[in-house]
Amino acid sequence: MTIHIGADKEDIAPTVLMPGDPYRAKWAAETFLQDARCINQVRGMLGFTGTWHGHPVTIQGSGMGMPSLSIYANELIRDYDAQTLIRIGSCGGMQEHVGIRDVILAMTASTLSTPSRGIFKELNFAPCADFGLLSAAHQAAMAKGVPTHVGGIYSSDVFYDERPDLNEQMMRHGILGVEMEAAELYNLAARHGRRALAVLTVSDHLLTHEALPAADRERSFGDMVEIALTAAFT
Ligand code: HPA
Repeated sequence: MTIHIGADKEDIAPTVLMPGDPYRAKWAAETFLQDARCINQVRGMLGFTGTWHGHPVTIQGSGMGMPSLSIYANELIRDYDAQTLIRIGSCGGMQEHVGIRDVILAMTASTLSTPSRGIFKELNFAPCADFGLLSAAHQAAMAKGVPTHVGGIYSSDVFYDERPDLNEQMMRHGILGVEMEAAELYNLAARHGRRALAVLTVSDHLLTHEALPAADRERSFGDMVEIALTAAFT
């Protein structure tokens, strides 16, 4: 048990998928895992462990934003020895060629700041995905025929942004989408020698102002979960 995760050590698998939303963790575990059981309910941040094609998998909510994700990822890495951490979540599209429902595999995650800023100080560390996971996820997405983009994303600290010029700079530099967690996951994986990837579904679009209708969300998020699971065990 840790401060924020009420599971015994053996209840957490070496492979952990991390959606922001704890109810999405429940849905993904019930939909894709065999013998899924709830292993964490502390603060309602639900976590489940089961198997996928015989492989043990944990799906643990991270909450929204990098400070929240940092708490769960730190405890999963330090106390539960998680080896592979894959964020599954939504993002806002930032390029015209990126459509609603498309999948983005985040090769890098640019930021204004992360919880790791205190240690990096004047350094601009470049948080990046594990190449093996990235490559396997790309192959899985191609095999499923899911429209997929690989490139840089922006991990923002705010959803309600008072600095639209920052988004504009990211778009000018080819950034594909904006979310709020991946950069710190990549920082922590680098620091502790673990594998990390963010697989994201475009749920809304900053340029076209489209949004994924609620009825379509499950199918789109399901593609993302299957891509993440296939990548983890390729
Ligand atoms: N901004 C930040 N995070 C997000 C967004 C967004 O537009 N969409 C989904 N996650």
